[in-house]
Amino acid sequence: MLTPAAVDVRSRHWLPFTQMGASDARSRTFVRGRGTTLVDAGGHEVFDAISSVWTTIHGHSHPRIVEAIARQAGVLDHATALGATNPPADELAARLCALTGLDAAFFASDGASAIEAALKMALQYWQLCGESKRVTFVHLRDSYHGDTAGAMSVSDITAFRARFTALTFEALCYDDVREVLGRADVAAIVFEPRVQAAAGMRLVAPQRYAEMRAARGPLLIADEIATGFGRTGAMFAYEQLGLAPDLVCLGKGISGGALALSAVLATRRVYDAFLGTPESNRQFLHGHSYAGNPIACAAALASLDIFTSEGTLAHVARLDAVLDELLTPLRRHPLVTDVRRAGLMAGIDIAAEAWPVANELYARGQFTRPIGRTIQLVPPLCSTPAEIAAFVAALADILDGVA
Ligand SMILES: Cc1ncc(COP(=O)(O)O)c(C=O)c1O
Repeated sequence: MLTPAAVDVRSRHWLPFTQMGASDARSRTFVRGRGTTLVDAGGHEVFDAISSVWTTIHGHSHPRIVEAIARQAGVLDHATALGATNPPADELAARLCALTGLDAAFFASDGASAIEAALKMALQYWQLCGESKRVTFVHLRDSYHGDTAGAMSVSDITAFRARFTALTFEALCYDDVREVLGRADVAAIVFEPRVQAAAGMRLVAPQRYAEMRAARGPLLIADEIATGFGRTGAMFAYEQLGLAPDLVCLGKGISGGALALSAVLATRRVYDAFLGTPESNRQFLHGHSYAGNPIACAAALASLDIFTSEGTLAHVARLDAVLDELLTPLRRHPLVTDVRRAGLMAGIDIAAEAWPVANELYARGQFTRPIGRTIQLVPPLCSTPAEIAAFVAALADILDGVA
């Protein structure tokens, strides 16, 4: 048997969306995190300007979340949610329902597993309502909902799905054919509210959502996996659009960014359709092993508490004004072709190769990951104005050197 010392751990870790043949694939090994800072194995400290891909809310290893995790791990690490519940999952479900005004929370693991659950919930809902012909899903232009089969099917970004058409089903893009909203076979419209993060922080015109609101029939599925938990200035971005979704998918920041957890919230109308006797076979036919994991739910409860104790949304409102001021001069830079932002989700398009710029940013203590030619600035919600200013100054300085 191999002793731990004999195993080259890093060489066995196959990284997602990463060319393992590239020489720099393993150059970033993060060993510690505290607040907005990550520390790599070389002792180099970087500002986590992408919140570890939109997950970190109150900063890394926040003491209250760490304490909640440790306490819960010592009481109950895990117990199945198949036919059973546990106190942290119960309390989290109640608090998420109170926050959103929806009526039931179904837990899953990652964002994509919440999307899969929501798609299946929509299909089964229509079957239970006697409308089995409602089997078609509608999505927005440039949508991204995750990397599992159902999530890819309602995603529009070719690069992510083109190789996997054998796994995906046909869905409709409603920017192309608005009439789809009136079709009798549509089960649900799935959408990212306000910002399409994976499309490079693309902002969606509010009018798109107004048309959806007017659609009678299909369920509305809000994918708040990237935008939820304060990112765009409100707790949830759909609130800013005046929408009342039937299903809301939450993930990423739900646990403050500490542990894998996701959820689908449902209205009473949807939830009630699944009720019946044990013999009626109406129960939702879906589940994941770690659904409602008590440790992850305890982390999420601590994260919600921090929103109150640290006045997180008020802080985001202050940063909103700071970002406006900081990004305005950047818009005039000859190498900046566009700057888009909603709350703490900003995309800065540059007329230069983005990876060398991101690598230089890293060398200067700023960690981001480009999407195409878009430099992302999606900092933890607890960031200070000075930290954001330092990121923008470093970017401007690097671009000056390229111009
Ligand atoms: C809007 C949106 N939905 C779903 C997902 C998938 O989430 P996960 O990566 O946790 O599966 C993502 C991931 O970036 C996302 O941005």
